[in-house]
Amino acid sequence: MIKCILCGSKFDVYERRVLCKCGGLLEVELQCNTRVSWSLFKNRSFRLWRYRELIPLPSDVNIVSLCEGGTPLIRLTSSSEVLGVKNVFLKFEGANPTGSFKDRGMTVAISIAKHLGVKTVMCASTGNTSASMTAYAARAGLKPIIILPKRGIAKGKISQAILHGAEIVFVRGYFDDALRVVMEASLKGVAYPLNSINPWRIEGQKTVAYEIVEEIGVPDWIILPVGNAGNISAVWKGLTELRRLGLIDRLPRLAGVQASGAAPLVQAFKRGLEKPVFIDDPKTIASAIRIGKPVNWPRAMKALRESRGVMVDVSDEEIIEAQRLLARREGIGVEPASAAAIAGLKKLREAHYIDKDELIVVIATGHALKDPDQASSHPIRVHNATSINDAVEIIGKISSIYESSKT
Ligand code: F0G
Repeated sequence: MIKCILCGSKFDVYERRVLCKCGGLLEVELQCNTRVSWSLFKNRSFRLWRYRELIPLPSDVNIVSLCEGGTPLIRLTSSSEVLGVKNVFLKFEGANPTGSFKDRGMTVAISIAKHLGVKTVMCASTGNTSASMTAYAARAGLKPIIILPKRGIAKGKISQAILHGAEIVFVRGYFDDALRVVMEASLKGVAYPLNSINPWRIEGQKTVAYEIVEEIGVPDWIILPVGNAGNISAVWKGLTELRRLGLIDRLPRLAGVQASGAAPLVQAFKRGLEKPVFIDDPKTIASAIRIGKPVNWPRAMKALRESRGVMVDVSDEEIIEAQRLLARREGIGVEPASAAAIAGLKKLREAHYIDKDELIVVIATGHALKDPDQASSHPIRVHNATSINDAVEIIGKISSIYESSKT
């Protein structure tokens, strides 16, 4: 069943509805009597669908998959000192088929869409949702329509959507304006919405929590970037389900990170408000999370309350610095929104929210190649050689500096 988180109304999973009649967000219910064990999963390949029993799609649904999930959990080594913590792992969601965590939600939501006989799917996006939806729609033979703010979609993401054959509707304003269009269009039933208001997206995205726990047990903290607040809600849903099923016996704390110019949930957290105060003109170089009116805020606030979580904001400078730290000390390329989570970890450690010995997982939501303009804006030394000999000489000079510094 699917249940409204506001009024408790219940709907059949075969309904195309993604919002309750009362306007509330919907949630897919996982039955408590679902029989699972870690050993059941262990015998299957390390991919999202290893957790099939915990994703309550009807059993006759044909799964539309690109082999998503099973992303690397990488221990940070050289950067831990700068971050002031000893036990940090980075869950690299950029390793998903289209380069972001969105693929987890899309495999589930596109599978049910296809099963329900949907022909056209739509989403508003800051880029990654549209890249992912378009790829999965292509795989399923559905028509993807994406609604984007005119400016600010990173080059890698829009290239993916074009490549996979989306039809694009540009709207004036921000992601929030594009999402309003999707809400209106859903009410009119003109296409099936695949934003994170769609509860099936959450069902896929929650699996990141399963993977983390299966690999290293329950961490003390899970830190992740927050935009429309679907992912933080999904991670919490996954964790609380594991506990209900007796697969874990404690829960981590959650830390959500927003960019300072787009931080409605951080403001609510700092001021102890029950609801975020929406922002009309969000600003940040982390375009994935340039969102002023997160629709999933009720789910996110619940996750924060229940997990004794925190929200923190970071400046664009801190984001860029964190992106460089990961790229140059760890060899991991993430997009700015994901780097925000690393910047958030540093800030939370400095503010003593996090202890240096605690076990921390940072979810790096998207790959650096998503935003090539940003990736190539970091400082670097460039040499223009005038001949082969000149080039060889330059190489010799550079390496002699490094060779001597080694000893
Ligand atoms: N990180 C990345 C790389 C994202 O693309 C997004 C959201 C987030 C974090 C935030 O996740 O919205 O669930 O809180 N991107 C959406 C999009 C909005 O359209 O691609 P959230």
